[in-house]
Amino acid sequence: MPGAEAAQVPRHIAIVMDGNGRWAKARHRPRSFGHNAGRKAVREVIEASLREGVKALTLFAFSSENWQRPQEEVGALMSLFVRALDKEVDELHGNGVRLRFIGDLGAFDEPLRQRMHAAMERTAGNTKLQVNIAVNYGGRWDIVQATRQAALAVARGELAAQDIDETRLGQWMSLAELPPLDLFIRTGGECRISNFLLWQVAYAELYFTDTLWPDFDQACLRQAIEDYARRERRYGRTGEQVTPLS
Ligand code: IPE
Ligand code: IPE
Ligand code: MG
Repeated sequence: MPGAEAAQVPRHIAIVMDGNGRWAKARHRPRSFGHNAGRKAVREVIEASLREGVKALTLFAFSSENWQRPQEEVGALMSLFVRALDKEVDELHGNGVRLRFIGDLGAFDEPLRQRMHAAMERTAGNTKLQVNIAVNYGGRWDIVQATRQAALAVARGELAAQDIDETRLGQWMSLAELPPLDLFIRTGGECRISNFLLWQVAYAELYFTDTLWPDFDQACLRQAIEDYARRERRYGRTGEQVTPLS
């Protein structure tokens, strides 16, 4: 493995795949052209994650706020998801990828929901890399749904309200079963979270790049991982506590 040592490879990477619209605009093409071009970048980061030994990759594909886009764009994205699922799942399965969809899936129409569930079931036994696709996902929604589950557990008498703590509540958040989020990447130049993994991002390392999503490739991911490997994660401690002088 070139560059960073295995221990410095993030176990869990999340990416806000932003910049498709601007990429298309620069080419005088419709925004959907940029979304389509973004598929190649998804394949690139999955391939690179498999090679680097990353255990989980979480991709923001459609936010709970993206429904507000023009109907035509939302429609184009939905049909892109269907086409991508029909085309890519075989190969992902062959490569040992476990696919998960996170978010409020109930909002999608039946054919798309069926495909998502079929892809999750089919790849459920794979262990090489878990790829989570966040669709109709919002970080605030995630916190609310976890809170609702905690409230229901209290109502059923399974949990006392005073026993709700960060660990308990965290167990109901999306991705709780995975290694904690190590590296949060956003392409497209904006330095914001846009309601992605609010709870999970607490101690992730943030990495922002101007590269537009369709241009993001394996070398770009390697660069982000190398940057991550140089960070000192202190979790509130001092540098000396974390890296004692020898
Ligand atoms: C990200 O690219 C893809 C989705 C939000 C679905 P954008 O479509 O936001 O691209 P820009 O930010 O307008 O360039
Ligand atoms: C975030 O990008 C959502 C996805 C990449 C799916 P947006 O383009 O929707 O975010 P804002 O509007 O710039 O905050
Ligand atoms: Mg955007």
